[in-house]
Amino acid sequence: MERQQMRPLRLVLVPCPFQGHINPMLQLGTILHSKGFSITVAHTQFNSPNPSAHPDFSFLPLPDTLPDHNSSTGDLVAFVWELNANYKARFHECLAQVMEQQGLEDRIACVIYDEVMCFSEAVAMELKLPSIVLRTASAATFLARTSILQLKAEGYIPFPESMSQDLIPELYPLRFKDLPFSVFVTLEDLVQQLSTFTNIRTSSAIIWNTIDSLEKSTLAKIQQQCQVPIFPIGPLHEIASASSSSLLEEDSSCLAWLDKQSYNSVIYVSFGSVAFMDMKELAEIAWGLANSQQPFLWVVRPGSIRGSELIEVLPKGFKETTGERGYIVKWAPQKEVLAHDAVGGFFSHCGWNSTLESICGGIPMICRPCFSDQRVNARYISQVWMVGLELENELQRGEIERAIRRLMVEKEGKEMRERAKILKEKVELSIGEGGSSKNSLNELIEIIMSF
Ligand code: UDX
Repeated sequence: MERQQMRPLRLVLVPCPFQGHINPMLQLGTILHSKGFSITVAHTQFNSPNPSAHPDFSFLPLPDTLPDHNSSTGDLVAFVWELNANYKARFHECLAQVMEQQGLEDRIACVIYDEVMCFSEAVAMELKLPSIVLRTASAATFLARTSILQLKAEGYIPFPESMSQDLIPELYPLRFKDLPFSVFVTLEDLVQQLSTFTNIRTSSAIIWNTIDSLEKSTLAKIQQQCQVPIFPIGPLHEIASASSSSLLEEDSSCLAWLDKQSYNSVIYVSFGSVAFMDMKELAEIAWGLANSQQPFLWVVRPGSIRGSELIEVLPKGFKETTGERGYIVKWAPQKEVLAHDAVGGFFSHCGWNSTLESICGGIPMICRPCFSDQRVNARYISQVWMVGLELENELQRGEIERAIRRLMVEKEGKEMRERAKILKEKVELSIGEGGSSKNSLNELIEIIMSF
């Protein structure tokens, strides 16, 4: 009872306004709310979360003056950089107002911010509030990002084409070509941004959406170099399973279609919320799926095909050829899809959330990384956890058809599926009583209560 009365109740969360970042932050909010904390989400107007989907949270909209963001250009990194330059003063003002109005029983315990929303750390410090960073990509990605800085300083980057397949010492199984470069910014800008995003100045701890059983040695390596405690408490979506923070409307009709398919027969195809492709790649995927003879559920997100407005862009004759065997949606309830018995494989861009969701579904993957951390994830999926195969060359229908058959029909795929089930069980253990994620979450709560 006393503990309850002493509990510092309110946490202010600052998500980065993109789907792959909003999801883990709001999932974290749901988890911490279930532990008795009040949650305030400070957010941009751009990609604003839907308050009615989170009736237990308060929302603190930050006034916007950003230029319109054109997501089809995909220049997300520049956008985030600009956001950091523009939001500091606004966040300071809004948070100071909230603090003026707060009562003793509702004081702000700390600010928890997405790793790229660095201005929050500075504001928290100015207002004498503790802060904690949430890292939403894998630990391996973080290590690879810090290695970019080191390799650049040592003159290994930029590297010649002849080195692209070489393994990087200390970063097995990553090759130079797997480093998480951005397609959106120059190397010089990337280096500047990475040194900001990876550097913690005043925050008290790091929350990581990963799991000790997946990344034990990498996490240990990072903890050795890090002054503050790290809490790997993932997979957040599994612990906060009830919440949805989709920016696009989920088309749940695909679940009824999945109900009609046989066990493990469907290949689910989705490339997340920011990756894009051109018409030629779309056509190759379409005919690869058609020729594989396998049932498929395919997400073709509006704006994801360069220079077109989707569904009509599917090649002529494709729908007639595949008929009832295929189902196409603009946006799926992905967590439910990957948990469905009919789904037996995931053809993915390997965003970190998708990777964790696939592992939790025990689903092996065909990896087609597009940029940044997706390359690192694909390498771990195929070479370390061995629950997927990677398509590395230019997308071609024959190769796609072959990959689908390898994954869905052949012995190789069966073995990957067995390993995926084992991985899933390990993750389940980590969030259960006495598991690593559960223990880390308890330690995190202790730290927050000590502020
Ligand atoms: C981005 C980066 O691309 C990714 O590499 C990084 O790790 C996080 O930020 P995104 O590309 O959207 O994210 O990929 P991902 O991390 O997989 O997140 C996508 C989220 O959208 C997942 O939680 C997924 O469940 C959800 N989703 C995707 C849907 O709910 N429906 C869909 O149809 C597709």
